[in-house]
Amino acid sequence: MDESLARFSESISFDHRLYKQDIRGSIAHATMLCKQGLLTPEELEAIERELRVIEGRLDRGELPLRIELEDIHMHIEQALIDALGDTGRKLHTARSRNDQIATDLRLWVREGLDRVDRLLLRLQRAFLSRCDRDSGTIVPAYTHMQRAQPVLASHYWLAYIEKLERDRGRVADCRSRVNICPLGGAAVAGTSMPIDRHFTAKLLEFEAVAANSIDISSDRDFAVESVFVLTMIGLHLSGWAEEWILWSTTEFGFIKLPQAFCTGSSIMPQKVNPDTLELTRGKSARVVGDLQNLLVLLKGLPLAYNRDLQEDKPPLFDAFDTVTACLELAIPIVEGSELQPAAIASRSDQGYLDATALMEAIMQRGMPQRTAHHKVGALVAIAKSRGATLAELTDEELRSVDPSFGSELRKSLGVNGAVESYRSYGSSHPEQIAQQVHRWRTHLENCSIALAKISP
Ligand code: ARG
Repeated sequence: MDESLARFSESISFDHRLYKQDIRGSIAHATMLCKQGLLTPEELEAIERELRVIEGRLDRGELPLRIELEDIHMHIEQALIDALGDTGRKLHTARSRNDQIATDLRLWVREGLDRVDRLLLRLQRAFLSRCDRDSGTIVPAYTHMQRAQPVLASHYWLAYIEKLERDRGRVADCRSRVNICPLGGAAVAGTSMPIDRHFTAKLLEFEAVAANSIDISSDRDFAVESVFVLTMIGLHLSGWAEEWILWSTTEFGFIKLPQAFCTGSSIMPQKVNPDTLELTRGKSARVVGDLQNLLVLLKGLPLAYNRDLQEDKPPLFDAFDTVTACLELAIPIVEGSELQPAAIASRSDQGYLDATALMEAIMQRGMPQRTAHHKVGALVAIAKSRGATLAELTDEELRSVDPSFGSELRKSLGVNGAVESYRSYGSSHPEQIAQQVHRWRTHLENCSIALAKISP
């Protein structure tokens, strides 16, 4: 092989990350070969022992990585053969690198998804803990980035918990299609050797055995799906980051970010920059790019294994690395930030946040929505013209818009009155919020207990 092709075609520079999965898969494969009489117990014992030695060398960075050995599979197999000779040469019985890489990748993605799932749960719990701390604080909710209606801050935190719950649902759903064993599909058509694929699948804790050897070596749906799941998480985090960047500006002054996760400026001594949030927002672009990369990679690929598939790893690894890092930093930021209730309250009468509540109070007395909308619009115009709030309108001003209006309308005014007036399921009424907080506390607690049982 020409040296330039060796450099062009190697994947060891990135797939060395799969060594633990490769060794685990090889030990399961050898164990199955022995059960089937294709290896003696002594051969199995030697192979397993030597694979553990190789794993230790890789752990310590003591196995030299050489591009002429191309990928992680060849490195490990060559080291085995160097140590065991012909016994080592038997490991690749009834196996091809095509089903081997598919197995390694699925094991790696499965672990990656489990890690992401735990981080999502921790982030949900971080938002939930804010609900207690910020209980009673009212913030403006925005639509079109304009002040819209007053809501409890907890209502915001619960909104993020909902998004993250959908992310966890997608992780679980994706995992079920990742968790299928390709090993034994061999190159493309299966094998004449008497293997037991169900046994290997069980050893590797896969839930099912992939049923078509042609499909097995070509299928990277699980890679695309997992990166899509990560992309959605990236999008959710980028929206949150953007929001808190705004909320932490002097102009908003809603929240104070933990200093340890902010940076200073080299020239402006007063600056505290929200770099972690900006990078979270920025890094989500990489994950979108990773997804695009995989989609285009797979488009038009005929069955079955094609070398193009080797290129799936950099975007796959990058998406997992990026989203995992963003989640790890989001948790302490959510936990460590401080809402600024005084600053928020001092401007809560700006923007006529209570206008909708007033309109609905009028509608409760029988006025059609369109009419009430129009009349409150007129009241807002009067208030605006003299820089007053709706609560500051005089009885005469109220009556000037409609003779039936009077001081009793005032009880739905102000942000507290507005929040108290909500009653629909999912709204910002304090009782609704308390119920939701209770529901999430029970649910997230149960999830944590369940996860701790699987692996503490
Ligand atoms: N390094 C390869 C990959 O990542 C492993 C499979 C190679 N198979 C082959 N027939 N050349 O896809």
